[in-house]
Parts: sequence; C-alpha cells; structure tokens
Amino acid sequence: MRVVSGIQPTGKPHLGNYLGAIRNYVALQDDAHAAGGECLIFIADLHALSMPHDPADLRASTLELVATLVACGLDPDKAILFNQAQVPQHPELQWLLSGTARMGWLGRMTQWKDKAGKNREGQSVALFTYPVLQAADVLLYQATHVPVGEDQKQHLELARDIAQKFNNDFASDDAPIFTLPDPIIPAQAARIMSLRDGSAKMSKSDPSDMSRINLSDDADTMAQKIKKAKTDPEPLPSEEAGLADRAEARNLVGIYAALSGQSAAAVLGQYGGQGFGSFKPALAELLVATLGPIRERFVMLKEDGETLDAILARGAAKARERGAPTLTAAYRALGLVRP
Ligand code: TYM
Repeated sequence: MRVVSGIQPTGKPHLGNYLGAIRNYVALQDDAHAAGGECLIFIADLHALSMPHDPADLRASTLELVATLVACGLDPDKAILFNQAQVPQHPELQWLLSGTARMGWLGRMTQWKDKAGKNREGQSVALFTYPVLQAADVLLYQATHVPVGEDQKQHLELARDIAQKFNNDFASDDAPIFTLPDPIIPAQAARIMSLRDGSAKMSKSDPSDMSRINLSDDADTMAQKIKKAKTDPEPLPSEEAGLADRAEARNLVGIYAALSGQSAAAVLGQYGGQGFGSFKPALAELLVATLGPIRERFVMLKEDGETLDAILARGAAKARERGAPTLTAAYRALGLVRP
C-alpha cells in the first residue's frame, strides 16, 4: 500500500480541504503504517506556478501548510512529508510523461476549462500541462491509493491513462513501469460548497473570505461565518429528498454529517422540521469543537520555522530515495542514455 497525495500552498487551507482530503491523509497514514506500506504527502509548490503568485508569500504559506498538516494529525515519523521543489524527480518525470500525454486529453480537463475561461491564449503553459505534473507526482512513487476530493477525480483518471499508455508503449505486459493509482474519495464531504453560493466549490481562490471556513479561523470567526452563511427561509426537511433543490441547506447538512460521522439522513432525523436559527448554532459548535484543537496546535507549530524546514528536508530526502528506481526505469524504457 503506497498512499500519495498533494495540496497546493496558495491561499489558506479550508474546511473543504480538511473534510475532502486531509482527514483521509491521516486515516490512510495509519492504515499504510499498519500494513507495512508508506504514505507520502507533499506540498504542491511547483503547481502554484501555474497561476500568478507572489514569491514572497510562497515560502511562508508552504511552511504554514506543513504546520497545518501536522496540526491535523499527520505525523512526520509515520508519513513522508515534503515539498515538490526539493524533489526534482517530479518535474523530471513530468517531462518524460509529456511525450505520452495527448493535447486532447489535457484540453478536456474541466479545471483547465474553468480556470482558463475564454482567455486560453493568455494562460501560462503550466496551467495547461499541470495535470501531467500531477500524474508524475503519483506515478513516481507507484502510488496505489490517492486520497482526494471529488474535484481531483478527473486528474487522477488522466494519470491512469498516461500510465497505461506509457506501459503499453514502452514496457512489456509482465513488467509494467507504472502502477495505476486508485483515487480515494470520501463518501461524505467529497465536495464542500461555498458558504455564499451552494453551486460553487469552497475554494482557496474565492475572493470572499466569508465563503469558506479557514482552518486558521478562530472560534468567533467560524461562528460568524456560519451565522451569515446563505440559506433559504424554509425549515430543514426530515428526508434527504427534501434537500434536492436546496443547495445551501444540503451543503450545511453535509458538513454537519461529515463532522459528526453521521449520515445526512441521521442529521435530518434530528433536525428535520427545525429552522436554521437552531441548526446553525449547533453546526458552529460542532465546527469549533473539531477545528479548535487543530487551530491551537497550528498556532504553536507555525512559530517554529526551523522545525518545519527540518521536517520538509527529512521528508524530501526520503522521497528522493523512494522515487529514484521508477525514474531510472522510465529513462531506460525510453532508450535515453544515462550513466
Ligand atoms: P488543492 O490544493 O486544490 O486541494 C487539496 C485537496 O483538497 C480537496 N478539496 C476539496 N475537497 C472537498 N471539497 C472542497 N471544496 C475541496 N477543495 C479542495 C482537493 O480535491 C484535494 O484533494 N492539483 C491538486 C494538488 C495535487 C495533487 C497531486 C493531489 C498536486 N499533485 C497529486 C493528488 C495527487 C490541487 O490543486 O488540490
């Protein structure tokens, strides 16, 4: 069992990242450890170059993200925690895979279409080729399990397509170069929506801070954001079917369910018939109870830059070691002359 996943350092990590992905990193870290496997979690700092970014912020937000991941329960003694920029095999393998990936495959990526909009000509090359780097991120380590939120499913399917074509074109059936990775998407909370608009994903890049719960928000801020979250005037239904065309209500019930480890049906069993005036304070309380301790650990950890740097350096050394055999095999398979 090889668990691999990444998270971008631009913007603040939020509730969507936590419920959709980070919580699963922690669970799978323990599963991998128990099964004698390994878990590699990285800060996708090279991915941050695909959009305009401020170099002065990148270092600080990279270290803060490490502090967040550790505060959420990732243990640098159990998982390999690093940033891509310290492991040059990622962009190296990306180039080797670029000969296999097809323009048409990348052009169909919904994230590319959404982010580029009508101005495709004006986008960075990196925004277009970013999914090839993402494929390299997981294929480099022969990942078997990749915990992600729903929005990354298509990128993982692409990674599988690239791996399959590379294996077909350059390896024999009995000795494939790459393992096809399986996405691990949570049944609950695979797609947490914005608090201001139930049709938009909760996102680090949303200009409104009221649209998301940041893991670094204090208790009052969290409670305020839930209080102001967009809803409708109806009380909660007692059956899930009643949420079908109520995106904002569905999102809040989904968040409550994911935080409490219950099904949405069970949450409605308890709160059906009640208005948001009583549901929102209960949700805020649950949020603060779950995220409050994480924030406390984060606040302490983020002050110790030296320790955070050391965690990344130690993780990167291990990652370089784990990635080396696959990269060598890929170079050989392509007929490239190497020492
Ligand atoms: P990123 O940084 O946007 O998000 C990190 C993880 O959080 C999940 N996520 C969500 N889950 C539920 N609801 C939401 N609103 C929500 N928003 C984000 C994402 O699905 C992701 O799992 N390209 C990736 C980073 C990456 C990566 C990889 C992931 C780079 N290489 C290799 C897996 C494997 C990204 O931008 O995630």
